[in-house]
Amino acid sequence: MNIVCRRSVFHLCRRPSLIADAGKERGIHSSCRRSMVMPAWVIDKYGSNDVLRFNENVLLPIIHYPNEVIIKVHAASVNPIDVNMRSGYGSKSLNMSRDPLHIKTSGSEFPLVLGRDVSGTVMECGLNVKYFKPGDQVWAAIPPWKQGTFAEFVVASVNEVSLKPKSLSYTEAASLPYVMLTAWAALVNSCGLSKEKCPGKRVLIIGASGGVGTAAIQLMKAWGAHVTAVCSGNAVTLMKDLGADDIIDYTVARLKDQLKTRDLTTTKEFTTDGDSLLPVDHL
Ligand SMILES: NC(=O)c1ccc[n+]([C@@H]2O[C@H](COP(=O)([O-])OP(=O)(O)OC[C@H]3O[C@@H](n4cnc5c(N)ncnc54)[C@H](OP(=O)(O)O)[C@@H]3O)[C@@H](O)[C@H]2O)c1
Repeated sequence: MNIVCRRSVFHLCRRPSLIADAGKERGIHSSCRRSMVMPAWVIDKYGSNDVLRFNENVLLPIIHYPNEVIIKVHAASVNPIDVNMRSGYGSKSLNMSRDPLHIKTSGSEFPLVLGRDVSGTVMECGLNVKYFKPGDQVWAAIPPWKQGTFAEFVVASVNEVSLKPKSLSYTEAASLPYVMLTAWAALVNSCGLSKEKCPGKRVLIIGASGGVGTAAIQLMKAWGAHVTAVCSGNAVTLMKDLGADDIIDYTVARLKDQLKTRDLTTTKEFTTDGDSLLPVDHL
């Protein structure tokens, strides 16, 4: 296992003759000719798609904390949050997480690497990392205040990473972590649902045909809940395929009116739009 501390990297940076070999010393092989750098998609300011820039000279990331790993990115996916962050969504609060003491100047988050989802291979492990070793195939969701996954390598804390299921390809695995964790946060953390509590419960999922909704349907069905999915007409087949018990097409009549024709009196229902989860009587 190769562990590189900040001081040794700094030392190497100050001695150009060593720079070319630094990546090799770490056991990380960048696809770039210079081994201290890697390719990444970055933005240097917020805006529309034309702010995206392919940069082959982004510094290879290093481990800052003993619970971190470096992952070689095999696949990443574009989530709605990446599109929103490109436009500046959440930049003030994310900068507070990046720089809580306000030491840095404005714009210090740039060049910013977007991308929250990743599947790949562990390359380096911090000193306290016990569960992973170099070569492990993993998937992860990287929090939005950290540098993202549209790069050849990304740093993650171990609590953001787990072993990739063998049944999924890298590409399939990279499409799931962030959206699945969003559904999990809504249903488990906010609603208090669990495998034990779901049997006999009815759950109403608004936005059921979207990324969060399809994840929520599958989790609720796997845990034995009765699922009512709300979507537009063209998603009905998808909802049935995912196992929804009842489907409401919100385009044909008001959702509230359609719910009145269903017997909801005996059970407690919840609705999610991915951001919030409310008891049905709040509709
Ligand atoms: N994706 C993530 O990882 C993530 C993370 C954090 C928060 N969120 C938030 O969670 C929400 C859903 O995200 P998503 O990724 O699932 O979005 P998405 O894939 O775009 O899906 C949104 C769904 O909402 C449905 N919809 C649109 N208008 C509706 C209406 N008036 N009534 C009922 N359903 C309607 C659409 O269904 P039809 O096509 O059937 O009309 C669409 O499939 C968003 O607010 C997003 O910001 C998402």
